[in-house]
Amino acid sequence: MGAKENRTTGPWFEAFAPPTLSNIGPGYDCFGIAVDGPGDRVRARKSATPGAQLRSIEGDGGKLPREPERNTATVAVSRLIERYAPGAGLELELHKGLPLGSGLGSSGASACAALVAANAALGLDLGAHQLVELAREGERVACGAAHPDNVTPGIVGGIVMIPNLEPLRFVSLPVPKDLWFALYTPGCEVSTKAAREALPARVRLTDTVRHASRLGLLVHALHVGDLQLLGEAIVDEIVEPVRATLIPGYPDAKAAAVEAGAIACSISGAGPTTFAIAGSEERAIVLLEILEEAFTHAGVPGKGRVSQVSEGARLVSRRLH
Ligand code: HSE
Repeated sequence: MGAKENRTTGPWFEAFAPPTLSNIGPGYDCFGIAVDGPGDRVRARKSATPGAQLRSIEGDGGKLPREPERNTATVAVSRLIERYAPGAGLELELHKGLPLGSGLGSSGASACAALVAANAALGLDLGAHQLVELAREGERVACGAAHPDNVTPGIVGGIVMIPNLEPLRFVSLPVPKDLWFALYTPGCEVSTKAAREALPARVRLTDTVRHASRLGLLVHALHVGDLQLLGEAIVDEIVEPVRATLIPGYPDAKAAAVEAGAIACSISGAGPTTFAIAGSEERAIVLLEILEEAFTHAGVPGKGRVSQVSEGARLVSRRLH
């Protein structure tokens, strides 16, 4: 331990990254929202040993890969060092607050928090676009695709749309007043990789047209702040029907939420987290109870919360020990 501490050359910087919802109906791979709730924390400090070293992971039940080239936090930070600070060394400690395979952007949150902490520890001044590009490298390792729809809101916060993947372009959209989410994560895991592989390689033109129209309506609804229009827009006839089969109880849970007046109800990311939208906190609490009852009845009780749109990853402290 003494030798390790002797090589240490900087103070600890700690960053937090929030959970993120992605897809949001018709926005597969191009739409995401940062929400409040428990997220991931990463501490980083400069080290004399070049590269990114992962000192510890807590909160993952021992499930995450420890090898630097397979963990999203170290992959993202390794790419940061290669591109922007060649020869630099960083030690990282990861504390998982997000459940794995939940649809809440867990792999992306580790990368986002790690990058914000690393950016500060190395005294760099990388902007959101650079950090998002680096965080995508973590997603590539986690599920085989550098999808940006969790890491973009994970870094910039709010509601974002990604109109172009290569080169990456993203835009922040207005957040309607009184937008509340009931988020329920049933007690089962869905592998993002498997849930992506289950999707059709081709879709019919007529389905694509309906999908594109809804995505347009989604953006419009956010701009005019109309939650009923938002509900009309959050319909996904391409991805959701396939993934609904991977989540026990999902069809009944959605039907119950819609019956109870949810503005919309769908799967976040690859699932199993299911979100229902309400126009007030009180209504969101009612929807949360309904989702909980349905998933419990289906044999997959889990955990839920009521959330609103939040900021992206941020530095939470600089510690001098
Ligand atoms: N857009 C991605 C997917 C998000 O649905 O596969 C995964 O978190």
